[in-house]
Amino acid sequence: MSLLDVKDLRVEFSTPEGSVTAVNDLTFSLEAGQTLGIVGESGSGKSQTAFALMGLLAKNGIISGEALFNGQQVLNLPEQQLNAIRAEKISMIFQDPMTSLNPYMKVGEQLKEVLRLHKGMSNREAHVEAVRMLDAVKMPEAEKRMAMYPHEFSGGMRQRVMIAMALLCKPQLLIADEPTTALDVTVQAQIMTLLNELKSEFNTAIIMITHDLGVVAGICDKVLVMYAGRTMEYGSAKDVFYRPSHPYTEGLLKAIPRLDTEGEILPTIPGNPPNLLKLPQGCPFQERCHRVSDHCRQHTPELSTFGDQRQRACHDNFHLSGGQ
Ligand SMILES: Nc1ncnc2c1ncn2[C@@H]1O[C@H](COP(=O)(O)OP(=O)(O)O)[C@@H](O)[C@H]1O
Ligand SMILES: [Mg+2]
Repeated sequence: MSLLDVKDLRVEFSTPEGSVTAVNDLTFSLEAGQTLGIVGESGSGKSQTAFALMGLLAKNGIISGEALFNGQQVLNLPEQQLNAIRAEKISMIFQDPMTSLNPYMKVGEQLKEVLRLHKGMSNREAHVEAVRMLDAVKMPEAEKRMAMYPHEFSGGMRQRVMIAMALLCKPQLLIADEPTTALDVTVQAQIMTLLNELKSEFNTAIIMITHDLGVVAGICDKVLVMYAGRTMEYGSAKDVFYRPSHPYTEGLLKAIPRLDTEGEILPTIPGNPPNLLKLPQGCPFQERCHRVSDHCRQHTPELSTFGDQRQRACHDNFHLSGGQ
């Protein structure tokens, strides 16, 4: 049994203009201690996937499918059961830590509150544990920082507080939704390195959500590439990076800045993701694809399995030959 088994996860929103399928039959799994990257441009359904798992969907959203966490269905659970799972088994960090931290409460108090509430610790025990956790996320002068308010921290340090808070109850799964997007490149790299270290230390599985394929390169075991709510490609990080099987993945890879391309203008994928209310017939990526054929304009490619547990949704077989 996997730690997390997601099958045909679907998220639909009812809007005045019609129904929007933000997540379209997503299937993936995650073993204990593994890291899965979910990658795609803005609007591809990454956050809604996470929100569905955490029970944080907006009121107009409807979830269907299955998500088994340690064999237990976690979709559409009553609030009380969700609360227990959220704090102790699955936790989540967001792009902007300010939205999850209470600006009027000292950081130490916020950390201690979690431990008192969920672990039944005394104030003294909670203090020791909170400092220990701030040390674990490499917060300098952890003891002193306990008495500071969120606005007194830099963006990178605030994100470290959030990571500490997310790991306080030793969750088996951490969902990180664009945790470094708001930070500058150097701090981004530090936070990624930190998450990678913590993953081994705490044996926490991670779902790393990002629009930047480069960010997940060093830390993921598996990668799921999403577009317009669908899986375009899914496989080991090595395969997806070194032998991409979908033109969309190729486009994302070309857009990653590298040392040898510094100063160059990188090719971005032309055009924009489609409006989910007006999806074209056939492949959702057709309008931006350099390998599009008439067949793609008429038939939506099914997700097919090939090679070593890889999956792709593309009619073009060119990429399967291995040479390009
Ligand atoms: N409450 C909502 N009502 C209608 N549509 C929504 C709602 N929330 C999100 N969506 C749609 O779902 C799509 C996917 O959103 P999201 O998962 O946030 O994308 P991202 O990959 O950038 O995280 C967006 O295109 C958005 O239009
Ligand atoms: Mg998002």
